[in-house]
Amino acid sequence: MSICVTPITEVFGATVTGIDLSNGIGVADLATLIDAFEQHSVLVLPNQPMTDERQVEFSRNFGPLEHTVRSNPAGDSFFARQSNIDINSGEVIPPDDRRMAYQEGNYRWHTDSTFKPILSRCSIFSAREIPAQGGATEFASTRAGYEQLSAARQQVLEGLVVEHDLIASRKRYGFEFNEREKSNMSAARHRLVFTNPITTRRSLLIGSHAFRIVDMPEEQSRALLDELLELSTQAQNCHRHEWREHDIVIWDNRAALHRATPYDGTRYRRLMQRTTVSSGTAAELQAMEAQQ
Ligand code: SIN
Repeated sequence: MSICVTPITEVFGATVTGIDLSNGIGVADLATLIDAFEQHSVLVLPNQPMTDERQVEFSRNFGPLEHTVRSNPAGDSFFARQSNIDINSGEVIPPDDRRMAYQEGNYRWHTDSTFKPILSRCSIFSAREIPAQGGATEFASTRAGYEQLSAARQQVLEGLVVEHDLIASRKRYGFEFNEREKSNMSAARHRLVFTNPITTRRSLLIGSHAFRIVDMPEEQSRALLDELLELSTQAQNCHRHEWREHDIVIWDNRAALHRATPYDGTRYRRLMQRTTVSSGTAAELQAMEAQQ
């Protein structure tokens, strides 16, 4: 069995077959996988059954793992759980439960963790239980969005800095953190244009957490962020992933947006476990999390 990387669209995404993660991953296959990740931004690895332990171990090949914000159903672990299932009781969570309201924000285009001072390199999502209908995840390439801008426009964007704020982005879509949760959270600033240190390709750091452009009037800032989002999420830059049980998808949080799509949570169960890999070192991540 040898590893095989097959592009999904002309713009981004690749399916990776010919590996079996149940026994870890060899050095050569890992190098191929990481190279494919940097090139294609979204990787689909079909038929890779995961336990939590195996997912944590596999994810660490990409870097140190973030702890999850406390308001997520899996808060304070290495997992962000996108699910309508209570992991302790195994029962379906009622649609009006706060944990489901928190997940509503995932239906907007976003990248994970841009509201933290250290960006996330990637997220790793494993499909443990999938609904018979709905619940696909959509991806959009902000690298393509950037590359579709004129050179003059790219130059104008180069120096801009964006504030990313989870409190503001969740509030915009109807979810309020409580005072205790808010006391651990603050906004973070990142350059609008991200340059990949390995490929040197540029992309846009945008999405629902991108709240405002620093030193720009509010209206102008909102209009520019909306325009860049629209450009990056044109159909030609998008891919919709219909889940099969045991799929793993790895996405680059610095080059691709994603969003959840609806499913009937009163009829179907959905359990997706996400690990989020930091782009910082273990020491940098630990220092950042100690401040939160
Ligand atoms: C996410 O927003 O992190 C996951 C999207 C999904 O649940 O499909």
